[in-house]
Parts: sequence; structure tokens; C-alpha cells
Amino acid sequence: MELNKLIRLAYSAERAAAFAYQGHAGSVSNVVEKEEIKKIEDEEWEHRNNLLRFMNKLSIKPSIWYEIKFYIIGKIICFSCYVIGWFMPMYFAGRLESNNVNEYILMGELATNTKINDELQCIEQMAIVEKQHEVYFLNKVANHKALPLFQKIFSWGVGYSYNKMSALE
Ligand SMILES: [Fe+2]
Ligand SMILES: [Fe+2]
Repeated sequence: MELNKLIRLAYSAERAAAFAYQGHAGSVSNVVEKEEIKKIEDEEWEHRNNLLRFMNKLSIKPSIWYEIKFYIIGKIICFSCYVIGWFMPMYFAGRLESNNVNEYILMGELATNTKINDELQCIEQMAIVEKQHEVYFLNKVANHKALPLFQKIFSWGVGYSYNKMSALE
């Protein structure tokens, strides 16, 4: 995927993630979990701001199509959190975050020696934050009785990640 397309996609997807976490935080009853998920939401908004700065440097604009598409996806996930229970939002958030890590690793590779070469550290940091999100949700579901089944069907869980980044970073 080319750099401009990846940045536009990530920019819109970050808002979908933030909307999803609004629903997720709203739907959990545990106050600590609520705060932890709110913090993750804030980090997704930060990522979106970073991506807007990248677009400005590259003289490109957000994709209207991605903005509409991911707005709708984000809102649907937001509302679905209230009806699918505790486990599934935790599980699918972790699975999505696992892929997000790779998106930012790829973005870093594509951005090298471009007009956003000065943002490589910021991109690397976003990959690390997505890894932290993945690990947070993995720890939440790790001992849940539904995990073995979901892990089998959806290929993410304990010992199954979509990225190779170390959890300690
Ligand atoms: Fe993010
Ligand atoms: Fe994230």
C-alpha cells in the first residue's frame, strides 16, 4: 500500500476506534476499566491528530470516502458494545489493535526518506502504543473461559499475535 493511502486510512480508522472505545467505556460497569478504556480512546484521538499533521506536511487531504465509511463503522461498534456483553468488545479490540501495530510499522518503512522523515519516531511511538493497547486487552481476556474458542476461530489470543513486536516495549 502506498504511504498516502495508508495515512488516510489510518486517520479515518483512528476515529472509528475512538468512537468504538466511547461505547466500550460506556458499556463496562467496572470503574477502573472505564477509566483505562477512556485513556485508550484519548490516545486514538492523539494518533488522529498526528496523522493530520503528516497529511499537512505531505500536502494531502483526508479521504471523504474513508471518513464516511469509518464514521459509520465506529458508530456501529460503539452501540454494539452495549449489547454483546463484556468479553467480545475486549477480545475484538485486542485483535484489531494487534493489526494496528503492523500498520504503523509499515507506515514507518514507507515514510523513510519522504517529507515526513522527521516523523519516524512519532510513527514508531504509535506502533508501541498500539502494542500496549493489544497487551491491555489480551490481559483482560487471557483467563476468560470463552478465549480458547475465539482464539481458534479468530486466530488471536495468548501466543497468537498479528505482529512480532515484543510486549515489553
Ligand atoms: Fe491508534
Ligand atoms: Fe489503539
